[in-house]
Amino acid sequence: MDPAQKIMRRCDALGKISEEPGCLTRTYASASMRRANDLVAKWMREAGMKTRVDAIGNLIGHYDGNKSNAKILLLGSHLDTVRNAGKFDGPLGVLLAIACVDELRRKKVRPPFAIEVVGFCDEEGARFQVPYLGSKALAGCFDTRDLGRKDAGGVSMAECIEKFGGDTARINQARFDPVRLLGYLEAHIEQGPVLEQKNLAVGIVSAIAGQTRARVTFTGRAGHAGTTPMNLRKDALCAAAEMILAVETFARNRAGLVATVGEIFARPGAGNVIPGDVQLSLDVRQPKDKIRRSASRALEKWALRIAARRKLKSNFVIVHETAAVSCSKKMSALLKEAVGRSQRKSAVLASGAGHDAAIMAGITPAAMLFIRCKNGISHHPAESVKTADVRVAFDVMTDFLQLLAAKYPNSVQRLERNL
Ligand code: GLV
Ligand code: MN
Ligand code: MN
Repeated sequence: MDPAQKIMRRCDALGKISEEPGCLTRTYASASMRRANDLVAKWMREAGMKTRVDAIGNLIGHYDGNKSNAKILLLGSHLDTVRNAGKFDGPLGVLLAIACVDELRRKKVRPPFAIEVVGFCDEEGARFQVPYLGSKALAGCFDTRDLGRKDAGGVSMAECIEKFGGDTARINQARFDPVRLLGYLEAHIEQGPVLEQKNLAVGIVSAIAGQTRARVTFTGRAGHAGTTPMNLRKDALCAAAEMILAVETFARNRAGLVATVGEIFARPGAGNVIPGDVQLSLDVRQPKDKIRRSASRALEKWALRIAARRKLKSNFVIVHETAAVSCSKKMSALLKEAVGRSQRKSAVLASGAGHDAAIMAGITPAAMLFIRCKNGISHHPAESVKTADVRVAFDVMTDFLQLLAAKYPNSVQRLERNL
């Protein structure tokens, strides 16, 4: 079967593996993630790879190079999703990578490097509100304090990992030795409108914007909705409502800044009780780290001001922060050469979305290929990608592998220097 069609069918199949009926939600270490890992592992084995699952739950397929001590080129993306997701954000990159390896197997090619395809177990952070759990473990920067975090059902991350078959004591051992790595290439839908506007199937990513994620809490006093006069209330949800609108106004008035409250928990959570405690998520992004950090500090002050005016308490905790990351110039140049073989023009664009590549870039040169998506829509069930564009991405990636192998046929050392 045509590789692009096969990839699309597999995206459909994975899109049906969900923990919620009627929509696609596949969060970290869930039963649906286990089923997705099992299915993708089967596809990896069919493509000639040996598979393993590491201590945190990343699925890794290994394809040997032409010598036993060959360096490893990493390919991949994530298999988890946001809630009510589209079916391409993440899986498309994993399935493209598997298809490229399958092509090598079919042609009986062993490159001068080994290839490992990674299906990262958590990029979105939907379950524990901290993203990149999988890539952080592989890059050796997983914070073990996160093991105590609880999901919405009160289950700790440590319990989830053990139940999933992982091993919390061995997460540090999941780390890749950077010396053994050649680089990391991730294919991903663009999640924005630029390629569509330019009428191009694929583009090369120059940099990935940094992000700050925070948890903002307002604590007031719960009380009876029928008996407490309006002027004697300490309604935490009203403070949160003010905060949400302040976040929107603040970001609207600053070029390049985006800020989002995407989650809210109001407790005790009953129609006839004044909300006493509210927790909000906050996601702040800007291409320039300095501006992002100062925006986050300003929003913390907003929360304090709103709480003080309403005689409530507020708490602002940064739960995750990544700096903006530049993609590898050498790898991207090679990718540009590969794009040039399939597409008359090349486009270079920055990513406002986070990607596993942002974390992997900390230990190895990383590059990204974006694939056009319909109307730039993502994190939504309407996510849509054309088979013809997936075919272009497949051609670009297989050409990239060929160029990498041909440019540096014998010497791993030379390859390292050149990347
Ligand atoms: C990941 O999809 C992110 O950018 O939030
Ligand atoms: Mn996403
Ligand atoms: Mn993604």
